[in-house]
Amino acid sequence: MWSTVLPTVAAVLVGGQLAAASPAAVSLDSFISKEGLRSYQGIMDNLGNKGVKAPGTAAGLFIASPNTANPDYFYTWTRDSALTFKCLIDLFDSDSSDFGLNRSELETDIQNYVSAQAVLQNVSNPSGTLEDGTGLGEPKFEVDLNPFTGAWGRPQRDGPALRATALITYTNYLLSQGQQSEALDIMWPIISNDLAYVGQYWNDTGFDLWEETDGSSFFTLAVQHRALVQGATLAQKLGMSCAACSSQAPQILCFLQSFWNGKYITANINLETSRTGIDANTILGTIHTFDPEGLCDDSTFQPCSARALANHKVYVDAFRSIYAINSGIAESSAANVGRYPEDVYQGGNPWYLTTLASAELLYDALYQWNKIGTLDVTETSLAFFQDFDSSVETGSYSAQSQTYKTLTSAIRTYADGFVGLVQKYTPANGSLAEQYNRNTSVPLSANDLTWSFASFLTAVQRRDSIVPVSWGETSANTVPTTCSASPVTGTYNAATSTFPTSTVGCVPATDVVPITFYVIENTYYGENVYLSGNISALGNWNTGDGLALNAGLYTETDNLWFGTLELVSAGTPFEYKYYKIEPNGAVTWESGDNRVSVVPTGCPIQPSLHDVWQS
Ligand SMILES: *[C@@H]1O[C@H](CO)[C@@H](O)[C@H](O)[C@H]1NC(C)=O
Ligand SMILES: *[C@@H]1O[C@H](CO)[C@@H](O)[C@H](O)[C@H]1NC(C)=O
Ligand SMILES: *[C@@H]1O[C@H](CO)[C@@H](O)[C@H](O)[C@H]1NC(C)=O
Ligand SMILES: *[C@@H]1O[C@H](CO)[C@@H](O)[C@H](O)[C@H]1NC(C)=O
Ligand SMILES: *[C@@H]1O[C@H](CO)[C@@H](O)[C@H](O)[C@H]1NC(C)=O
Ligand SMILES: *[C@@H]1O[C@H](CO)[C@@H](O)[C@H](O)[C@H]1NC(C)=O
Repeated sequence: MWSTVLPTVAAVLVGGQLAAASPAAVSLDSFISKEGLRSYQGIMDNLGNKGVKAPGTAAGLFIASPNTANPDYFYTWTRDSALTFKCLIDLFDSDSSDFGLNRSELETDIQNYVSAQAVLQNVSNPSGTLEDGTGLGEPKFEVDLNPFTGAWGRPQRDGPALRATALITYTNYLLSQGQQSEALDIMWPIISNDLAYVGQYWNDTGFDLWEETDGSSFFTLAVQHRALVQGATLAQKLGMSCAACSSQAPQILCFLQSFWNGKYITANINLETSRTGIDANTILGTIHTFDPEGLCDDSTFQPCSARALANHKVYVDAFRSIYAINSGIAESSAANVGRYPEDVYQGGNPWYLTTLASAELLYDALYQWNKIGTLDVTETSLAFFQDFDSSVETGSYSAQSQTYKTLTSAIRTYADGFVGLVQKYTPANGSLAEQYNRNTSVPLSANDLTWSFASFLTAVQRRDSIVPVSWGETSANTVPTTCSASPVTGTYNAATSTFPTSTVGCVPATDVVPITFYVIENTYYGENVYLSGNISALGNWNTGDGLALNAGLYTETDNLWFGTLELVSAGTPFEYKYYKIEPNGAVTWESGDNRVSVVPTGCPIQPSLHDVWQS
């Protein structure tokens, strides 16, 4: 069923050249150019101080998604923001004008990100403070730079590492432009706090990137290793010191080896779990530590390493039989994949970003083989390669050999298959939600997820062999003979210098502001709660046109109804009142005076009204 939509013969990289594409492949290509533009716009829509979907958000901060309820992702996450800015900084760094980007505007966005992160580092929060570094492990903040004080899976120790990597990439660009003082005075103080955090806390447990399990996580440690390697090089260039970078990086690499169980990479250790450990955590760990100069090293789990390929097969195969929308897909063809097979969040579904990451890892591997000029099939990776040529044997195949050509061409088609599934399941308006339903493929959970859009851009860039700058993997892949753990206590200082033109802070909204109503009222099954008011978006007091509230968060102890109104302009004054409709159609209004409110224009702007039914 899927093969009628997917290309039967995809464009094939032969000796680095794109071979003539079939008509079916052109349709994937044209989807990619259109969705690339849409994704870049989707990212910018979610950026504070400019994006139409991020009213009231500070300049330089991304909201994770404009969704304000079920799930409420109207916060800024350190991880999602760093990964997205890394994607943007790489685009900027490669002198690209792809996706319609404007370089001068993008550089302002990058500098606003830098300034906003300097402020966030010093915001005391439930994880701690900057003084001893603990506050840097806080995963998410309010969009107006305030701490998020609700219960959460914290700390999460990947954020500082990912942010350091993004900031180091931009610092290297500044140095290449002779901007030594910006690198030293503005960038290094922020980067140095994040590196100190990694050097001090890498050997402590924390919550994984899915914010669910507290232990030691492959993704976290892989990106921490990379950050320290880059940090050591940058410190040297700037004449600064990062003793922890050089001493701790090899120790993290040593510990990372214990995640390889002989068959696949286990996502989490140092915790009690009944899960298999098969998890997109490991695929993401590999693509975010991909080094274009890398030589398929197993120790750093490079995309073309035997370990990463074996792991890719185990991971993808784990979803073939559990998602209804994968039924009928052959084992050598791309399948829809999610976070981990045991996942139940929102029903446990494929995610756009994991399906795209599965393609990206393969594009990375193809890039590396092409650069190296050989492809090795080992005992470890044999099963992976047999999906593409059942008679292939272990050995080393040069780029001139037929086996190399057959395998790389089939793997490129396989990789395109993952992008083809995303094509098939992207709605006509190009929005990328967080997930799509495992049975019906309908998009679900948070809409317009910043990270989904970023993962689209990185995957299609790698497909075009556009790769980020090396992070120094080739001189950092030697594993010490014995592992030890002697983390270094860091020193932390709030960064004070910022780019002269960058803006920090919340800019009042002038556009549409989503507003969420919460009301507590005990109801029985079949009785529903609505609200209406004196504006057309609220139905002008007509009980047939009011806003229907959702009981998705209603429990016996918390009788909560909620709903979000999307279409009201900042500054609009309005009156409103709640009412119930009984199963027989009878309407009951709450008593008391009309409620009065104004959609705010000031800061912070994520209005939510918390009411209790007036009886
Ligand atoms: C890029 O953006 C700047 C600032 O908004 C503007 O002045 C300039 O004309 C834009 N450049 C292009 C090529 O659109
Ligand atoms: C950092 O936070 C501390 C404690 O809130 C505050 O006293 C200090 O002024 C802040 N530093 C900067 C540079 O904002
Ligand atoms: C700390 O490092 C040691 C040595 O690699 C390892 O055995 C241990 O599991 C690590 N613990 C945590 C929580 O990272
Ligand atoms: C998928 O279908 C199964 C079987 O009908 C059902 O139990 C499950 O809730 C569905 N999942 C989603 C996410 O709709
Ligand atoms: C795009 O289409 C999907 C599916 O029809 C819908 O749920 C979503 O709200 C739309 N997004 C936008 C930004 O219009
Ligand atoms: C709705 O009510 C508010 C508050 O009483 C009032 O200021 C506003 O003018 C009313 N709007 C309309 C459209 O009647």
